[in-house]
Amino acid sequence: MNFKLKDGFLMGTASASTQIEGGEVGNTWNDWYHKGLIHDGSDPAVADDHYRLYKEDTALMGKMKMQIARFGIEWARICPAENVVDYDVLDHYRDEITGMKKLGIRPLMTLHHFSNPMWFENKGAFTKRENLHYFLEFVEIAVDYLGDLVDDYITINEPNVYATNSYCFGQFPPAHTSFIETFAVLENLAHCHIESYKMIHDIRRKKGFTNTMVGFANHLRAVDPEDPKNPVHRASAKAVEWFFQGAITYAMSRGEFMLPLVDHWKTEKGEYADFNGINYYSRSTVSGLSDGVRKNSPRNDLDWEIYPEGLVRVATWLSGILYRPIYVTENGTCDNSDSFRSRYLYEHLRAISESVLPFERYYHWCFIDNFEWLEGQSARFGLVHNDYDTQTRTIKKSGEFFTKMIENHGVTDEMYDKYVSGIEYRIK
Ligand code: BGC
Repeated sequence: MNFKLKDGFLMGTASASTQIEGGEVGNTWNDWYHKGLIHDGSDPAVADDHYRLYKEDTALMGKMKMQIARFGIEWARICPAENVVDYDVLDHYRDEITGMKKLGIRPLMTLHHFSNPMWFENKGAFTKRENLHYFLEFVEIAVDYLGDLVDDYITINEPNVYATNSYCFGQFPPAHTSFIETFAVLENLAHCHIESYKMIHDIRRKKGFTNTMVGFANHLRAVDPEDPKNPVHRASAKAVEWFFQGAITYAMSRGEFMLPLVDHWKTEKGEYADFNGINYYSRSTVSGLSDGVRKNSPRNDLDWEIYPEGLVRVATWLSGILYRPIYVTENGTCDNSDSFRSRYLYEHLRAISESVLPFERYYHWCFIDNFEWLEGQSARFGLVHNDYDTQTRTIKKSGEFFTKMIENHGVTDEMYDKYVSGIEYRIK
């Protein structure tokens, strides 16, 4: 039952500023809470209070032997109003990054993760081409100020999830339901990614750095027809795959815009990612144009199917579009009682260890239980438990297992017996 990870393979966790920092910072999620739209009523101004507790949290990462950390910076804090930059906030992030590096943890910085400053949102955010310069200016400011400390960047997190949840399914702010807006946002995010990609490289080159790695965190799902013999289900699966993740992947990684995306920017075709960032959680089983879940499948607490084979499937597909080192920039599961997370970890990392693809890093989602967007505090994905009343962190058994995997560069038979053996998933 043991396995070894490849030489040089690095492990750590991922987070997003809005989900952990807390504070009333004038972003779209503070606003969503005040509109009463977080399902369990929890307040992102609480979250993990990480903006205040960052030193303790970084120390805990060190204690847990993390080698890498994906973290986000909060645009609304850095630019609290149009044309305003708060350098104290940038200094705060310098301090946080320096703290990680002192512990030997390599930072990967995310520039956009689902959250906008309200002043940008009120202008129509990424639906309008004339707004994009605001984001690019923010990227320039942040990378100029922090770029000497950070080699690795994610421009945009999950453009497809952000665009569809916000503009197609009407769930994330601003909860619109328009295909036209959805595809405009996807096109504009692709443009922002490509321009940021070039800009980050330029800024870093001017500072004398040649080891810059820039990519985006691509949310990929394994997509299968509910009934593989049914031609309608097969066609739907192909359509969902293309509209949700195919078209945007070509646009972001290669500057190739294909229908339903158009390219108002006359983008030069090229290669716009130094690594393939994959956020992988689950499989979609499709019979029409919406997402479904396979019957009689293992489920997590949010009823998502647990399907470890899908990770290598999506990585194979992506490598066929652009071949790059693979960073699993998110993978994890909602398991409120930490009863099956260790098995989930074991199966996904084992799949990576057996693959011939160039997997180089694994960022588990997430480090500490955090504010899970619409689900608020009630969906726990962390390796570390958070008591939101006291902000007390407690390492879970799966967190202990994760550290042991780092120390042993894989899983030994003893570890399997102690952490994995006997764990059953809930089947539904
Ligand atoms: C997002 C995270 C989120 C996680 C679990 C991803 O889609 O990037 O912010 O917490 O999934 O739902």
